[in-house]
Amino acid sequence: MTKNILILKGSPREKGNSAVLADQAAKGAREAGAQVESIYLHGLDIRPCDGCDLCNTGECVIEDDMQPLYPKLAAAHAIVLASPIYWFTYTAQLKLCIDRWYGFQSHHWQELSHKPYGIILTYGDTDLYTSGAINAIHTFETMCRFLKSEIVGIVHGSLMDVGDVEKHPELLQQAYDLGKTLASNSYVRNQQLPPP
Ligand SMILES: Cc1cc2nc3c(=O)[nH]c(=O)nc-3n(C[C@H](O)[C@H](O)[C@H](O)COP(=O)(O)O)c2cc1C
Repeated sequence: MTKNILILKGSPREKGNSAVLADQAAKGAREAGAQVESIYLHGLDIRPCDGCDLCNTGECVIEDDMQPLYPKLAAAHAIVLASPIYWFTYTAQLKLCIDRWYGFQSHHWQELSHKPYGIILTYGDTDLYTSGAINAIHTFETMCRFLKSEIVGIVHGSLMDVGDVEKHPELLQQAYDLGKTLASNSYVRNQQLPPP
């Protein structure tokens, strides 16, 4: 079965470090036979969830670029979230999008659950803790626990300026391998997650 992999890019820099790593993951996934779609969130009109709760009994009623994204999220076999760290967590562009996943609630989360995730994070500081990347990871772990999903791999690196990632072949390779893993059936289900 051909896998559909959806990549959400959270950086405003279209050719930035996280985007380059996301493209590497896409390459690895395609070369392993998957169909990949990458979405540059900064280029979309995605409004914040307004908490109206109309999605309790139906669909999200906000008419914006999130509407065509809902079926893509539902159809994805695996999802990659790629973002720089802004102010000690992932970017507002990605947060706006993920907040709107609340619109899946009338489908009892079925369409969004049980998917493997790949996470790509870049940051200017020296490590996971001082950069705040750990906060993004903690959020994604909690989110995946709720969605009965699993994080298959996290690629992260200390990179500041556009182009810095090209000096890190090991990160490019890790991102490529992550895409390949997501495209294959070889990822191991993480049985270690504690219950919600
Ligand atoms: C508004 C803004 C906030 C940032 N906040 C942080 C931060 O909290 N921690 C950090 O380590 N780097 C921070 N950075 C640096 C970026 O994470 C870093 O440059 C990253 O590699 C950018 O990724 P990109 O090229 O994919 O956009 C920030 C950069 C900007 C523009």
